[in-house]
Amino acid sequence: MLRRLHKEQPESFAFTDANSAWAEAQISKYPEGRQASAVIPLLWRAQEQEGWLSRPAIEAVAAMLDMAYIRVLEVATFYFMFQLQPTGSVANIQVCGTTSCMICGAEDLIAVCKEKIAPTAHTLSEDGKFTWEEVECLGACANAPMAQIGKDYYEDLTVERFAEIIEELAAGQVPVPGPQNGRYASEPLSGLTSLQEFESGRHQYNASAQLATDIGDTVKRIDGTEVPLRAPWRDGGDASKVSNVEPIVAAPTPVAEPEPVPAPEPAPEPEAVPEPEAVVAAAPTEADRPEGLQEARGGQPDDLKRIKGVGPKLEKLLHTLGFFHFDQVAAWTDKEVAWVDENLEGFKGRVTRDEWVRQAQEFASE
Ligand code: FES
Repeated sequence: MLRRLHKEQPESFAFTDANSAWAEAQISKYPEGRQASAVIPLLWRAQEQEGWLSRPAIEAVAAMLDMAYIRVLEVATFYFMFQLQPTGSVANIQVCGTTSCMICGAEDLIAVCKEKIAPTAHTLSEDGKFTWEEVECLGACANAPMAQIGKDYYEDLTVERFAEIIEELAAGQVPVPGPQNGRYASEPLSGLTSLQEFESGRHQYNASAQLATDIGDTVKRIDGTEVPLRAPWRDGGDASKVSNVEPIVAAPTPVAEPEPVPAPEPAPEPEAVPEPEAVVAAAPTEADRPEGLQEARGGQPDDLKRIKGVGPKLEKLLHTLGFFHFDQVAAWTDKEVAWVDENLEGFKGRVTRDEWVRQAQEFASE
């Protein structure tokens, strides 16, 4: 299949503030010079936000990762999971057309899509709410035929039920995902023949269907405000801290089977979870900036690249901030570390993550 950028493109693209913070945290996972490793997560987030990947979105990701535009375009056009044309404002419906589903009626489901959405795949419905496409096996073959809509699977579909689901979604309702023929998961339709003791005390629906029902959402676009944007590898490795201002306990907690629905789980170390205000209050100010030098003493800077995690680009950045010597880094206080972490454009959080101060103290004492 030929995968090209859509003929009509928006003027621009920008991540929401929350998604931008999330993207920056993803980039910080990788060593200097390896930021390109974040290309798929960033493209995926852009698609989750907009519903599809536009040229400005691809260019924005390329700029964020310091990659050539063509390299990011190659990724976006290679993987079918990336949508290169506008998708429905409500959902892009992905009907599995592989063997099990095909034998069990996938072609009839596709006929429903053609009738209710558009005669051809990747074409917006008249009201702009839906697009559809045929995809390869989605791994729910025991529940064929099936379709993925948004983040959820709708399984054991019939033509009638599938048409109803599309109508319910168009009306703003949230149809219960999962098997549509009364099955709980992929057990025999006549009921369990073993492990029957697990039938009592379980949730009304299987885990993913229960979660979708609990949060009342299967197709919402992601703007970054849905869940705490955690980056435990930052903030000094303190997993209890979060990189945005939402408390961890606000996250919808996945439901485990066959245990009863748990209350929202506390953070791994509840006693260490700071109030969001505390994170904001600790933000470094200009007064925390460590004293820098105009130039290296005697014109001889130390080789800061000896610090693990510092490459030529970061070393240059440190020089522009006035840091040339190990003893300067070794003397940074916690507040000064926080300031530098915050001001390493494109590399935020590296000082803490890679323990620069401890490393610099060792080099300075040689
Ligand atoms: S064949 Fe359709 S999910 Fe596997």
